[in-house]
Amino acid sequence: MSVVRIAPSILSADFARLADDIAMLEAGGADWVHVDVMDGRFVPNLTFGAKVIETVRRVTELPMDVHLMVVEPQNYFDTFVDAGASGLTIHAEVAPHLNRQLAHIRELGAAAGVALNPSTSLTTIEDVLTDIDLLLVMTVNPGFGAQQFIPHSLEKISRARRMLDAAGSRAVLEVDGGINRETIYRCWRAGADAFVAGNAVFSADDPRGEIGALRAQCAERA
Ligand code: DX5
Ligand code: ZN
Repeated sequence: MSVVRIAPSILSADFARLADDIAMLEAGGADWVHVDVMDGRFVPNLTFGAKVIETVRRVTELPMDVHLMVVEPQNYFDTFVDAGASGLTIHAEVAPHLNRQLAHIRELGAAAGVALNPSTSLTTIEDVLTDIDLLLVMTVNPGFGAQQFIPHSLEKISRARRMLDAAGSRAVLEVDGGINRETIYRCWRAGADAFVAGNAVFSADDPRGEIGALRAQCAERA
């Protein structure tokens, strides 16, 4: 079984004390920091850009997993990698030149990821399986934290796992949206190995302990 990576999303952090929240994530054993960039066009919400990526980079050495929910994502590749992003994930729905866009991310030295909305078929990425370091299967419609996990996603995760294995791809299979102690186990069983969690971590009574508790769902029940 593959390594489990927990990627707390700072979308649910307290921005008045962002450095403290990131220190808490590190202390809790987070593997990555997930950064949700939204432009108010691809999704009906607006979040942050290079300045926040730079700020996070100043306070942690953890890999920064940057999820671009924006149209024309290529406009941000250079500045976000300069600001400290370790990986950039773009949505297939707004990337008509996926092969070129993913190659550009890799040329910058970052991990190249592609994300699919719940309604987007896996067939859209079957020709770029060897160009990706990460496949993100959205388990909610992107745009907001604290939404309900879409159960139908499980079957898609299993198919994604089979597709990656059949292609000999070593890409990480990440899930994002509504991940909590129960859904993480189901996604892990279906073949996911990286888990974004915003609300589940930040609204827990013990956010720091919750990171380990999420990971334990996969390990203990293996
Ligand atoms: C949703 C974002 C997620 C979000 C997850 O559009 O891509 O990363 O922060 O939040 P939770 O874990 O609260 O569903
Ligand atoms: Zn995300």
